Amino acid sequence: MNRTDRFLRACRGEPVDRPPVWLMRQAGRYLPEYRRVREGVAFLEMCRDVDRAVEVSLQPLELVGSEAVIFFSDIFVPVAGMGVDLDFRPGPVVADPIRSLDAVEKLSDPDPRESVPFVFEILRNLRAELEKHEVPLLGFAGAPFTLACYLVEGHGSRHFSVLKRMMYREPAVLRELLGRLTDMTVAYLNAQIEAGAQAVQLFDTWAGLLTPEDYRAWVLPCHQRIAAAVDRERAPLILYVQAGGHVVDGMIEAGPDVISLDWRLDFAEAARRAGSRVSVQGNLDPTALHASREEIFRRVRGIAEAGKAARGHVLNLGHGCHPDTPADGVRAFTDAARALATG
Ligand code: CP3
Repeated sequence: MNRTDRFLRACRGEPVDRPPVWLMRQAGRYLPEYRRVREGVAFLEMCRDVDRAVEVSLQPLELVGSEAVIFFSDIFVPVAGMGVDLDFRPGPVVADPIRSLDAVEKLSDPDPRESVPFVFEILRNLRAELEKHEVPLLGFAGAPFTLACYLVEGHGSRHFSVLKRMMYREPAVLRELLGRLTDMTVAYLNAQIEAGAQAVQLFDTWAGLLTPEDYRAWVLPCHQRIAAAVDRERAPLILYVQAGGHVVDGMIEAGPDVISLDWRLDFAEAARRAGSRVSVQGNLDPTALHASREEIFRRVRGIAEAGKAARGHVLNLGHGCHPDTPADGVRAFTDAARALATG
């Protein structure tokens, strides 16, 4: 079974010999080879540099044995295309946070193929290269709620209290902002599929900050609209929420092909709930990549066993690779996935 077939079959809940494996943030500072390409180039500049972005996207295949490639970029790249003045230090910083209806209405609504054409050039180049190796290419987008967290707050935050204040005091502004971001996300993901992405992941990292009731009111409708409008015949949709143990049912209800979960929950229980409805992705704690090779193998066997309760399982971390991750730990993680086939 080649890597593309294994990955797409696991996403759709069709039989496979073992779970496919890749890692969120697999191209990153933990690799000296990445740091070399990145040297002297600002992060956004790197995202726009087609040759460099293609090069670092491919690095995890050989260097750590990953079995899928996610294109190198950031969830805020298309937002810059909407006219938002944005910088990375190292997280996203917005010069004029969006706090009024007027500011929402000033956002432009461009065709992403025109506002961020380099994204699609990166994807087309990667797909041509990966086709030779039978490795799947993944696209991605930030989900409206997580994008709004930074756009309203202006920067990263532990609680995103400015965003939450808007939710309670100016719901019409937040609703309009989420609506605009949902339209953009649908257009962006479909353009990525058009350019060669074979699966797409929606990152709603911060949606787990909400109560189950607020998640249903604010997040679920955006996910449902995206799940209904993305070309799923051509590319399965993976939905990621960090610390989302209390919203697993809502994630399933949105109707993606795969739900991607972190380590702060009982993965076996989540997989049982997913059952025949949806596949699961996850969920090793990224800091466990510091453990011994034997311990990483033991944990992967446990996660794979738990994942069997769902119709399909894609092995991954519960969040992105940290910059201090040992590359040997990442290699042990992907080797452990391959060892599952032979028991
Ligand atoms: O998975 C991948 O390798 C694909 C590329 C990717 C990046 N960011 C590259 C990046 C993806 C999918 C993201 C998603 C992203 N970006 C999310 C959602 C997922 C998550 O990690 O929670 C969020 C919330 C962001 C916003 C963001 N971008 C933050 C908070 C930061 C700084 C902190 C950090 O983790 O480094 C970034 C910068 C960023 N995005 C870097 C990379 C490789 C680091 C830039 C550098 O090398 O200096």
